Amino acid sequence: MELKPIQEKFKSLYGTDGVTYTSPGRINLIGEHTDYNGGFVLPGAIDKAMYCVIKPNGTPDRIRAYAMDLSEMDEFGLDDIPIKQWGKYIFGVCNEMIKRGKKVEGFDCVFAGDVPLGAGMSSSAALESCFGFAINDMYNLGFDRFELALIGQATEHNYVGVKCGIMDQFASCFGKEGSLIRLDCRSLEYEYVPFNPVGYRLVLLNTCVAHELASSAYNKRRESCENAASYIRKYHPEVELLRDATLDMLKEVANEVSAEDYMRAEFVIEEIQRLQDACEALKKGDYETVGKKMYETHIGLSRKYEVSCEELDFLNDVARQCGVTGSRVMGGGFGGCTINLVKNELHDSFIKRASEAYEQKFKIKPKVYDVVIKDGARKL
Ligand code: GLA
Repeated sequence: MELKPIQEKFKSLYGTDGVTYTSPGRINLIGEHTDYNGGFVLPGAIDKAMYCVIKPNGTPDRIRAYAMDLSEMDEFGLDDIPIKQWGKYIFGVCNEMIKRGKKVEGFDCVFAGDVPLGAGMSSSAALESCFGFAINDMYNLGFDRFELALIGQATEHNYVGVKCGIMDQFASCFGKEGSLIRLDCRSLEYEYVPFNPVGYRLVLLNTCVAHELASSAYNKRRESCENAASYIRKYHPEVELLRDATLDMLKEVANEVSAEDYMRAEFVIEEIQRLQDACEALKKGDYETVGKKMYETHIGLSRKYEVSCEELDFLNDVARQCGVTGSRVMGGGFGGCTINLVKNELHDSFIKRASEAYEQKFKIKPKVYDVVIKDGARKL
């Protein structure tokens, strides 16, 4: 993305130069809705990011912020809630830092980005991580990347109202060019897994639909998982999160948990196993098995976790018909993208066929993004 216009905007608004920071969106190869259950995920940061230009403005607590993509300005103090929805992310990050005992003073900023909104590519985590990284660096607050990821997540919980897991902010902060991150979301131990699927490409197809109420539905999924875990815990006290449970343990409480919670928990326990299987296959370069697991994830997300939608299911079906190796809904769901592992030679014909079929049925063109795995949050 071109930085000059953002930097020039900063200068024209505030009459001085600022410092530029960035943090990216992410993809996730497999392991969906496992993070808040203490399971594993396999994300990577991408070449689409949020950017901010920022500078202290000498006031004790006035924030002046300009959202370039929306041509909107907001100004707020660190103890008055911003008017704009996007202001809450900046406000939240600052306040989470203050909560952790640090001093944040006033600043001016301009931000913009090319992570599509509502596409399941974590534009909000990118924004939180971008500001987290920038403010930390600008005021020398001494947070490490773990803490910055947790600050972003806490911003979602406490200022946005989404009880998300840690995957998105972690990927945005820890991303590494050419590698996926196999993250244990309970211990936060992680490993970089070089990702270079020779002969294949990863491509995202954006349905361009974002469904209303996605965040309340998301929080409801999380509650279902916590409910199921609490029933299992009665018989198996060691089960803190679904990560610790087996399908047999879940079966034992089948008559106690609601049918809906049961289905949700079953998906999660299966998905944690699927990720392990996919990682084993990845090590051997067995992309056929990785792809098979992706399709299984889609079925689980669609039928048991119920976070897919007609548009996503349609694109998944087309992928299957075209012989694409793996395809599934990516991220929280309820709209956004499918992620597709596709053989090089099939790439163009698949994109063409999927785009035409989708446009014919839904009267919108899906957007296509070839995935490039890049570095995480940094100063530019
Ligand atoms: C959203 C959340 C993540 C994760 C995914 C689903 O992206 O922010 O924490 O739960 O959904 O895997």
